[in-house]
Amino acid sequence: MIGRTKADSVELDEAAMPATSHVSRTVVEEDGEELKIFRRNTAFGTITEHGTMFVGFSSEQRRLEIMLRRMADDDGVRDALTHYTTPVTGAYYLIPSVPALSRFAPDEDG
Ligand code: HEM
Repeated sequence: MIGRTKADSVELDEAAMPATSHVSRTVVEEDGEELKIFRRNTAFGTITEHGTMFVGFSSEQRRLEIMLRRMADDDGVRDALTHYTTPVTGAYYLIPSVPALSRFAPDEDG
């Protein structure tokens, strides 16, 4: 499902990697370059309600969009992870750079 062996967490060889594995669906290349993101998965919850909070940071929103579409069967191949997880909510947030924000700040003397 993920693309690694369960016992030792060793990543599968390309030949043995299922097209439906999470790694296969989220490793995306364009012009020979991998579209990378920075990600944090954090467990949350109690006995009755629990799960994983996925947070992905990217310089381009489209990278996350492409990955989500590929996970959700955009091209006829569905990420096996989605058979065991239930998406509850999701959102995109913009984090402007300091130079971009400072364009809106008033001058020191008003
Ligand atoms: C609850 C949901 C998710 C879980 C439990 C999960 C779990 C994992 C795990 C265990 C890996 C490690 C694979 C490895 O290193 O072999 C991984 C990799 C990755 N995941 Fe997720 N993931 C989730 C959601 C997402 C989402 C929503 C995205 C993108 C929008 C995403 C993008 C990625 C990417 C890009 C990698 C790195 C693949 C690589 O370079 O090897 N994941 N995920």
